[in-house]
Amino acid sequence: MTSANAKFSIIILAAGQGSRMKSDVPKVLHEIGGKPLLEHVINTANTLVPQQIYVVYGHGGSKVKDRLVHLPVQWVEQAQQLGTGHAVEQAIRLIPNDHIVMVLYGDVPLVSEITLRALAAASVTALGVVTCEVAVPFGYGRIVRNAQGRVLQVVEEKDATDEQRAIREINVGIIAAPAGLLRAWLAALDNKNANGEYYLTDVIAKAVAQSIEVKTITAATLYEILGVNTKAQLAELEREYQWLQAQKLMAQGVTLRDPRRIDIRGEVRVGKDVVIDVNVVLEGRVELGDRTYIAPNNLLRDVVVANDVNIKPNCVIEEARIGAGCEIGPFARIRPATVLDEKVHIGNFVELKKTEVGPRSKINHLSYVGDTTIGSGVNVGAGSITCNYDGANKFRTIIGDNAFIGSDTKLIAPVEIGAGATIGAGSTITHNAPANELTLSRVKQVTVKGWKRPVKNKPE
Ligand code: UD1
Ligand code: CA
Repeated sequence: MTSANAKFSIIILAAGQGSRMKSDVPKVLHEIGGKPLLEHVINTANTLVPQQIYVVYGHGGSKVKDRLVHLPVQWVEQAQQLGTGHAVEQAIRLIPNDHIVMVLYGDVPLVSEITLRALAAASVTALGVVTCEVAVPFGYGRIVRNAQGRVLQVVEEKDATDEQRAIREINVGIIAAPAGLLRAWLAALDNKNANGEYYLTDVIAKAVAQSIEVKTITAATLYEILGVNTKAQLAELEREYQWLQAQKLMAQGVTLRDPRRIDIRGEVRVGKDVVIDVNVVLEGRVELGDRTYIAPNNLLRDVVVANDVNIKPNCVIEEARIGAGCEIGPFARIRPATVLDEKVHIGNFVELKKTEVGPRSKINHLSYVGDTTIGSGVNVGAGSITCNYDGANKFRTIIGDNAFIGSDTKLIAPVEIGAGATIGAGSTITHNAPANELTLSRVKQVTVKGWKRPVKNKPE
């Protein structure tokens, strides 16, 4: 990039209210792919390695800043939202004249690095403006050109004549120029327009008046020009974004049963021959090993899955590690800090929390296992529960290798079941159970001879 030599700063506008969103949440904090719109823009800006990124915030107080305070940007307040031109003025005060300044909008989230690099290269001595031809230009500023095709001005929807509204080349909202020039143009803006705002877009006419060249850059792809002003546009862009994520996965060899029915809200790393069925949501950091199969309707958040794992329908798996060859579900819930070793089977209506399960152990039906360490080759029978909480504190349960826990057992923690122990079905275990023995706690079965069922009283 030529501007790598020139000093280069980026301003991102994020102070607007976004009244058309009809929300108390500042517009740029609405999310696409689980990340605020503004965060997408900041991440893309960072790929250009500018000297500094300035984010102009304002509406909603410090909500925007507070949410993204961990990101490497300088925050600049625009106390009153007097328009996009006024917003840029707040930040340009901090930028030396010999910098090239690029302005991005926090509500145009999917702008691409390729387009921004082309813009930076075009703006070393000129005013660069990203434009695009669209079928439905409604709502965007229009690029007005003269008969020779030279740009004259940008006119906003509300200020446009009928003839100008017919123009289909729109202002994407991204410009770049030398800081000294931009500063002077901004100082000369007025707010005599339909909105009573200082429009950044009026700098284009100022440049033309000074015979500074206006170079237009065409956006590399169509989705990157889309701005979010309404919930409908947010939804449209979300689908566009998800389609791109699906394309990326398929390019890495993943089989998607329907690329329109997967949602990725984070980073996904995949091995070979991963197959993902419909309605799967992957959040946070997810790693899927070779030959992972994910059946319909699964949610995985921050999960590492080893090779050859079969995740059956309708499971929720969060902050867990799933070992090679495991079978999970259907209808399993695996909660944070759970680690499954290889070939573990977790069946329907089983909930695990903060639990390590050793190789080849099985918990197949209707169980809650929390704060537990389970060895290898253990079988936990249907309906068994670790009672890990006394109402005040949590306690651990330990189950040794090859133990067999009969169905409907309650293990009252803290408690330890020795290796090879067998627990009789229906037991409530309050003391440690020794290895290799049968332990059970239940009332002895009795038969009451001649007992009769009660019968209904006769009406009197
Ligand atoms: C703007 C452009 C329009 C372009 C469109 C592309 C202007 C005047 N118009 O219109 O030509 O086609 O974007 O999406 O620039 N903001 C502030 N402070 C303010 C006002 C706005 O920081 O005082 C921020 C907003 O948070 C938003 C961005 O600037 O991120 C754009 O503002 P918005 O009101 O959405 O402008 P549009 O009407 O979409
Ligand atoms: Ca907008």
